[in-house]
Amino acid sequence: MPQLLPLFPQEIDNFVDLFCGGCNVGINVKANKLFFNDNLLFLIEMYRAFVEKSLDETLGHIDRRISKFELSLTNENGYKELRNAYNSEKNPLDLFVLIAFSFNHQIRFNNNHEFNNPFGRERSCYNSAMKENLINFIIRLKEIEVNFEANDFENYDFSNLNSDDFVYCDPPYLITCGTYNDGKRGFKGWGKTEEKQLLCKLDELDSKNIKFALSNVLEHKGKENIILKNWVENNSNYRVNFLNSNYSNSNYHTIDRDKNASMEVLITNYEPPKQRQEYSLFDL
Ligand SMILES: C[S@@+](CC[C@H](N)C(=O)[O-])C[C@H]1O[C@@H](n2cnc3c(N)ncnc32)[C@H](O)[C@@H]1O
Repeated sequence: MPQLLPLFPQEIDNFVDLFCGGCNVGINVKANKLFFNDNLLFLIEMYRAFVEKSLDETLGHIDRRISKFELSLTNENGYKELRNAYNSEKNPLDLFVLIAFSFNHQIRFNNNHEFNNPFGRERSCYNSAMKENLINFIIRLKEIEVNFEANDFENYDFSNLNSDDFVYCDPPYLITCGTYNDGKRGFKGWGKTEEKQLLCKLDELDSKNIKFALSNVLEHKGKENIILKNWVENNSNYRVNFLNSNYSNSNYHTIDRDKNASMEVLITNYEPPKQRQEYSLFDL
């Protein structure tokens, strides 16, 4: 994630993180206002609670839940009891506690909008590093002007944006299999229709001189995202910035590259700021 930030415009008024997920990118961006959006309503409700409640209230709630349900690296029953409590009451802060103790810290709901990720036995817990990250995250949320919305990207209102603003998109990737791709998790899935609708939205932003950046993969485990490749080829002002160090614009089309590797890209409608070359002592 952090390697993306140098590719973003240097001055941003409003920053929109349209598929914010864990907010990992947006939270690190320097902008006057941050707008986070994700169609996973329960996640957005958790972030809103972080903003509305005091830091002490949030940390106190987490500690009380951990002791009430005796959560630990091994107490699966306690985890399941908290999961049942969350699924019936939907206290937004309980979602954070569940994610902390769940398998791979994944956020997974079923079609009844019940959190259904299994227990992270011997692996996942609320440790001091997680607590410190949470504190830093909440402090940052409280010191900036921030807004959370739970829209489908199709319904997001971009009408207030202008050329000083920036839209970052990290949607589900069409050719990989994230937990949100199949449409069986209680929220709309991601297929060719959504992919094309998003690319149309980005074309609209471009026509209004609003800068955007799209994270994606052009190739993954032998599959190609033809829709995305064609879109880039048909828009000569869009730039493909390769994130894997072994690719560059010059070798992108060569035939001898590893067909199974993931080709991670950031597609932008602007020339990213020139990267400052960093030398070590013995390069000089
Ligand atoms: C690749 S993840 C984003 C990861 C995020 N950038 C991060 O740093 O954690 C994709 C996100 O898109 C959200 N999403 C999927 N379909 C969506 C839609 N139609 N509208 C808005 N958000 C959607 C998912 O809930 C998920 O959080």
